[in-house]
Amino acid sequence: MDQYAVIGNPIEHSKSPFIHQAFAEQTQQAMEYGRILGDLEQFEQQVAAFFAQGGKGLNVTVPFKERAYAMCNVLSKRAQRAGAVNTLMVGKNGEIYGDNTDGAGMVRDIVQVLNQPLHGKRILVLGAGGAVRGVIEPMLLEHPQSITIVNRTPAKAQALAELFAVQWSSFAELTGEFDIIINGTSASLGGDLPPIPDSVIGPQTWCYDMMYGKEPTVFLNWATARGASGEDGLGMLVGQAAEAFFIWRHVRPDQASIVEQLRQAM
Ligand code: ATR
Repeated sequence: MDQYAVIGNPIEHSKSPFIHQAFAEQTQQAMEYGRILGDLEQFEQQVAAFFAQGGKGLNVTVPFKERAYAMCNVLSKRAQRAGAVNTLMVGKNGEIYGDNTDGAGMVRDIVQVLNQPLHGKRILVLGAGGAVRGVIEPMLLEHPQSITIVNRTPAKAQALAELFAVQWSSFAELTGEFDIIINGTSASLGGDLPPIPDSVIGPQTWCYDMMYGKEPTVFLNWATARGASGEDGLGMLVGQAAEAFFIWRHVRPDQASIVEQLRQAM
């Protein structure tokens, strides 16, 4: 049977095996999907060994996405632009193909599953780390009116904005209302909130947190307390998995039902 896995460190709480097995059942694909605890010293050797043993594809998660990128022989354009890889597969001659499905997974979740078009919208993105870098290009493909990156360390917002030819700001200088606000900072991991001015919220503002949890995230609580609606990033997790599954198996699974199952199990 075709073998797939997710590799990361830590890995025990990864939901990817559940998600991919559910996709496989739904679409009747004969495949197995396991989990590999990535070794901080030996990640590259682990990947090579997986493919040498006949493995078909890997998902790569924290903290290895940049190292996966560096070991690819062929990179998709979106992986090149993201500077990171979350999906690997191997070619006939052992060459390693890398792709990045995080941004497309997020956009598909927002646009197709949650029915929030990005086209023509003023989008504010909080954060300028790896997570944000991976989503800018796929969002630009939706032709928003504007994308503004705001970050605690403004120089990082500026560097990323220049790379993608979008706008940037510090939190202190942020002005105006936005239609869509996306939190891509890791602040909520520590229960923190970036210093966002209330003035960014307008009557129709919709918010999305790339993080997710059993309880609403601090960012979503902040948004709803100011009259905005929004959603967390559980659907992005399923969305990036669905994109990877499509690359490997050429079939597109239904995402919404899996998000629902994961939500109930939390
Ligand atoms: P990831 O790969 O998850 O994006 P990262 O590259 O370390 O992780 O980036 C984390 C992002 O969250 C950065 O934009 C960081 O801001 P800085 O560039 O100023 O460090 C942001 N971040 C983390 N903790 C934060 C906090 N408490 N308040 C505001 N921003 C925070």
